[in-house]
Amino acid sequence: MHPKLRKAVFPVAGLGSRFLPVTKASPKEMLPIVDKPLIQYAVEEAAAAGITQMIFVTGRNKRAIEDHFDKAHELETELERKRKDALLGMVRSVLPEGAHCIYIRQAEPLGLGHAVLCARPVVGDDAFAVILADDLMDSQPPAMAHMAQVFSREGASLLGVEEVPRDQTQSYGIVTVERPGVDIARIHGIVEKPKPAEAPSTLAVLGRYVLTPRIFELLGELTPGAGGEIQLTDAISQLLSHERVLAVRLPGRRFDCGSKLGYLQATVEYGVRHPEVGRDFARFLKTR
Ligand code: G1P
Repeated sequence: MHPKLRKAVFPVAGLGSRFLPVTKASPKEMLPIVDKPLIQYAVEEAAAAGITQMIFVTGRNKRAIEDHFDKAHELETELERKRKDALLGMVRSVLPEGAHCIYIRQAEPLGLGHAVLCARPVVGDDAFAVILADDLMDSQPPAMAHMAQVFSREGASLLGVEEVPRDQTQSYGIVTVERPGVDIARIHGIVEKPKPAEAPSTLAVLGRYVLTPRIFELLGELTPGAGGEIQLTDAISQLLSHERVLAVRLPGRRFDCGSKLGYLQATVEYGVRHPEVGRDFARFLKTR
């Protein structure tokens, strides 16, 4: 048995330019799927994996995330006074029990790798999860819980992966694995956002990682890669020559909520399942 995963890093400093104008003054991670912001789904997924330290790497205009997970004293007093117990319970459980939050600022948007490196002083020498909130994972068991279980068995760095159509390789880190077709396979190579014609496979990295602390040394030595950014993918590529890194096919369905189409699909899917409005919403969809 390997040590349990306790820490998750949530890189949330991105500008969210694909969702302008709504992201001009609001973080994209606060976009709601029905009535819950994306970042809350991500934190709940981490908590379901037994993770208790939620480490957010934030930037300008991200105050709403801190406020969301903070105690809302006035709101709670008001709901208490009006005896709105269900709402009160909901507000109080925004941050899962036993979890606590740590915020680190990423002063400049220098890329995903740089954001992860910013978490080094808090993560220290432990293995940790990285969760990108705009990949909404709809699965049972939850994606990170599945990866935490694999980690407890293997003790190796893990990347959550999924097959994508070849014309989409340019949106993802693409891996090649030792035994294609199996659910957990050792990774041989990884490239960031290759053109379809140049992609070595169609196995794409989703926004779920479990990384050993060795990644920090490698990130610290990197020079900017694709797009002038410090790429997590480049550090993982180097990690491959030091350690075993495994690709884990994730169960369930993923919604790419970093794109408008994926966001709308998630809204419809979670909308028709919602206990309060689901049935009426499904009826509306049929009649329109
Ligand atoms: C990032 C990573 C990429 C990964 C993707 C998953 O890209 O750089 O390797 O496949 O997340 O969502 P981004 O979507 O931030 O451009």
